Amino acid sequence: MNNTSVEDFIKDIPKAELHMHIEGSFEPELMFEIAHRNGIKIKYPSVAALKKAYRFNNLQEFLDIYYAGAAVLIKEQDFYDLTWAYLTKVHQENLVHTEIFFDPQTHTERGISFEIVINGIRRALEDGKEKLGISYRLIMSFLRHLDEASAFKTLEEAIPYKEWIAGVGLDSSELGNPPSLFERVFAKSREEGFLVVAHAGEEGPAEYIWEALDLLKVNRIDHGNRCLEDIDLVKRLANEQLPLTLCPLSNLELKVVENLKDHPVVEMMSHNLLVTVNSDDPAYFGGYMNANYIAIAKALKLSKKQITKLVKNSFKSSWLSDDEKEEHLLKVDQYFNDN
Ligand code: ADE
Ligand code: ZN
Repeated sequence: MNNTSVEDFIKDIPKAELHMHIEGSFEPELMFEIAHRNGIKIKYPSVAALKKAYRFNNLQEFLDIYYAGAAVLIKEQDFYDLTWAYLTKVHQENLVHTEIFFDPQTHTERGISFEIVINGIRRALEDGKEKLGISYRLIMSFLRHLDEASAFKTLEEAIPYKEWIAGVGLDSSELGNPPSLFERVFAKSREEGFLVVAHAGEEGPAEYIWEALDLLKVNRIDHGNRCLEDIDLVKRLANEQLPLTLCPLSNLELKVVENLKDHPVVEMMSHNLLVTVNSDDPAYFGGYMNANYIAIAKALKLSKKQITKLVKNSFKSSWLSDDEKEEHLLKVDQYFNDN
């Protein structure tokens, strides 16, 4: 063990991300550039003015701005540029594997075809694999503020691209839109061979996490913060080692926690929950993977050992093959021993 600072330790450790919405990586500068070339006027006069609007009291206030931003994406190249920008950014942060969400309905509802969206994203992901060495899985997320019929239609549109999509998810406005509303479309998705995840317990109650487990039969829970309100649920998640994809800076910016010192990650680890650190919507919440790790490491005084555990949890919780997981875990252990 040498005296690498915790910050440098975080920056250089090879990491995986499991919860990141590609539309949430849309940096204001790129948004203005793409809007300009598509002849679309953004409601804010400048990048600075837009950034000033990034103050949220809850999930919905964020979502309203996030969907407005995504509305300037029109062409396949726009989706390529968006995805490529994310990949080059996280490559500099030693991210070696990423499992990203895209929200097809955000685009198909505006008349952009599923094909345009997925072709652009996929081409960038393939380039990222080849040129940057970042492996990936793509997750198609249903918008829970839209109805079941819209989700079924989206699933149908995804079938020709099945080989490109590892799993389906559930995101958008959580309160009032419980997982139970999507039980049938998730059953059909599983039948089609997709892995399944769902956002649950970010703003919604522990009950929504039970529903995601029992009705949607998810492989991972996105967020899951409010599981701590129900000890039986905590025991179940710990016993099954069902991963939770936590997003600290997102939680802070959306007021899920008041202060990062109150973030539940350490308490969750003490319950033996399989928790991971992720950026959610990095362009909106003040940072990518390293910023998230550094923020909680500072607020909660995490040791290198705890950080290493979190990093290993991400590889364990990923959808890589067992051999690939083993390879990454060995490298992380080696890094810990050397630093
Ligand atoms: N879509 C993008 N980010 C989200 C989040 N944090 N919760 C729900 N839906 C989202
Ligand atoms: Zn999310």
